[in-house]
Amino acid sequence: MRVAVISDIHSNRAALEAVLAVCDRLGIGDIANLGDSLSGPFDPAGTADILIERAIPSIMGNHDRMLLAPPEKLGLWERWAMPELTPAHLDWVRNLPETLDWKGLFLTHAAPGDDAENWLDFRGPGRRLIARDRSGVEARGAGLTAAVTLTGHTHTPRMVRLTGGRMVVNPGAVGCPAYFDDRTDPPFIHETGAPDARFAVLEEVGGKIEVSLRTVPYDPAGMQALARARGADTWAEAIGSGWFTSASQS
Ligand SMILES: [Fe+2]
Repeated sequence: MRVAVISDIHSNRAALEAVLAVCDRLGIGDIANLGDSLSGPFDPAGTADILIERAIPSIMGNHDRMLLAPPEKLGLWERWAMPELTPAHLDWVRNLPETLDWKGLFLTHAAPGDDAENWLDFRGPGRRLIARDRSGVEARGAGLTAAVTLTGHTHTPRMVRLTGGRMVVNPGAVGCPAYFDDRTDPPFIHETGAPDARFAVLEEVGGKIEVSLRTVPYDPAGMQALARARGADTWAEAIGSGWFTSASQS
């Protein structure tokens, strides 16, 4: 087994193309996607076209689910995407499974059973993601039997092991290396500190699975222009640096 896992593209078509080019270069044709694919200010339709054209097995993230809400309940990230999505794109979203057993791996967007709950970390004081303690991580993985579970949602690349050696792998975000969420009080900031697209490669070697958490530099200029045209200047800044310097930091 040698596969790639991507997640949290958030409409960043250029980042997705860069990651897929690396997969092509590595000769990896088996690629799965953990969701949050189209919501964002970049190129939702172009992103959907690629995922559909390449028939990349994908599951539904919380932001994919939110695309299916009534128009008056759409969030800002979805309101950016919705005008560009065709009925075929939305059909694709509607048919995404919540989880998937894929090549012996279990795919879930966030914590099992809750597509919007952080698993490996939580929103702590200081408006930052803080790693959960062992009991919190184990509790959310209770009952999982797969040797490897893939999870996204937090945009933070990481691998941990549960009791019995079961692995939990978060590949990080393809297209959203930093974001500012002002729906919480106080507002919440997530920063990976680098603009590079992230993904994971899993390879079985001698009966054991090796995980590579990879970074891919790419040119975000075209995506930044699309974001600025929508007034999403902070997103343009975020994909250019991986930081969120315009959000006040006290
Ligand atoms: Fe996300």
